[in-house]
Amino acid sequence: MLRTMLAGLFSDDLAVDLGTANTLIFVRGEGIVLNEPSVVAINQPDHSVLAVGREAKAMLGRTPGNIAAIRPLKGGVIADFDVTERMLHYFIAGLHRRRELVRPRVVLGVPSDITKVERRAVRDSAVRAGAREVYLVETPVAAAIGAGLPIEEPGGNMIVDIGGGTTEVAVISLYGIVCGKSVRVAGDEMDEAIVQYVKKRHNLLIGERHAEEIKVRLGSAYPLPGERQAIAVKGRDLTDGLPKSIVISDEEVREALREPVMTIAETVPACFEQTPPELAADIADRGIVLTGGGALLKGLELLLARETRLPVTVVADPLTCVVMGIGKVLENPDLFAAVTRTD
Ligand SMILES: Nc1ncnc2c1ncn2[C@@H]1O[C@H](COP(=O)(O)OP(=O)(O)OP(=O)(O)O)[C@@H](O)[C@H]1O
Ligand SMILES: [Mg+2]
Repeated sequence: MLRTMLAGLFSDDLAVDLGTANTLIFVRGEGIVLNEPSVVAINQPDHSVLAVGREAKAMLGRTPGNIAAIRPLKGGVIADFDVTERMLHYFIAGLHRRRELVRPRVVLGVPSDITKVERRAVRDSAVRAGAREVYLVETPVAAAIGAGLPIEEPGGNMIVDIGGGTTEVAVISLYGIVCGKSVRVAGDEMDEAIVQYVKKRHNLLIGERHAEEIKVRLGSAYPLPGERQAIAVKGRDLTDGLPKSIVISDEEVREALREPVMTIAETVPACFEQTPPELAADIADRGIVLTGGGALLKGLELLLARETRLPVTVVADPLTCVVMGIGKVLENPDLFAAVTRTD
């Protein structure tokens, strides 16, 4: 009896932001219940799952031959179906254990430019991972909802969502994307740019995880006021193959990041080229809103403001904005009807 009553308190609905870098799950009535890196460690001989999420991320670049630490999504889309499905299954099963979720209804965020076949793949993965019904919502729309923008009105709202694998720029009005532009350049490309820079300039090979750490601690898109900073970077010397440590400055990291950062910045004017003038005028007044973990790169909003001559703001919590938006969709039937799709 008590069990049934408790079960009734929990709803069967989940909002899932299946990102290239991080997966977040929101349960209706509860909020965010899971926030883990989208990484799975697989034991090669028998294909069993050894670890998922944070624990698996710590293994990236550190596995012996019999273990593979895999990031199953690339550029915002599923690159390895089997592993994505197992990851989702693991995450959803973990929630099951804590509450009475029986084959939940799931709303998933997907990039706006993916093909029908890719949408189908996402849907199938979620169903095989245990979902009863699957609805999709475009990431920029979810980001705009999460940011609290008035997308129900006729008026231009511009979202720039910079994730791990993809940057999506979209103009949203009346619940829909009027025009958008995406590039497969985001946080991962920034990490890779740091790896390449350190290799070229310092003859030092570093791992991608270390590069990400450097980006988060020292990275910037625009010169910032205050003292110059520097940190120690450790890797393998390409000349003699031995471990070595060098010191890298914030200026060097900015130089390393210039190319991916400029590619991201150029996506905004490319989107404006397709934007109807009335909506462009609205955006000139309201400005541009940044979401996604990449928006946390220091000075990115200053660079974008300089490049576009428009006001640019970063939402309060860029890493959770999309899943919070999908969560609002779950909780509001009108919004649900207006923005989800089943094809
Ligand atoms: N303080 C920071 N400075 C710069 N980058 C950061 C910072 N914090 C997180 N990031 C980067 O944000 C990215 C992850 O962002 P997010 O979780 O929004 O991506 P995602 O939704 O998983 O990916 P996608 O939307 O492309 O599928 C990573 O590349 C991470 O390194
Ligand atoms: Mg994302």
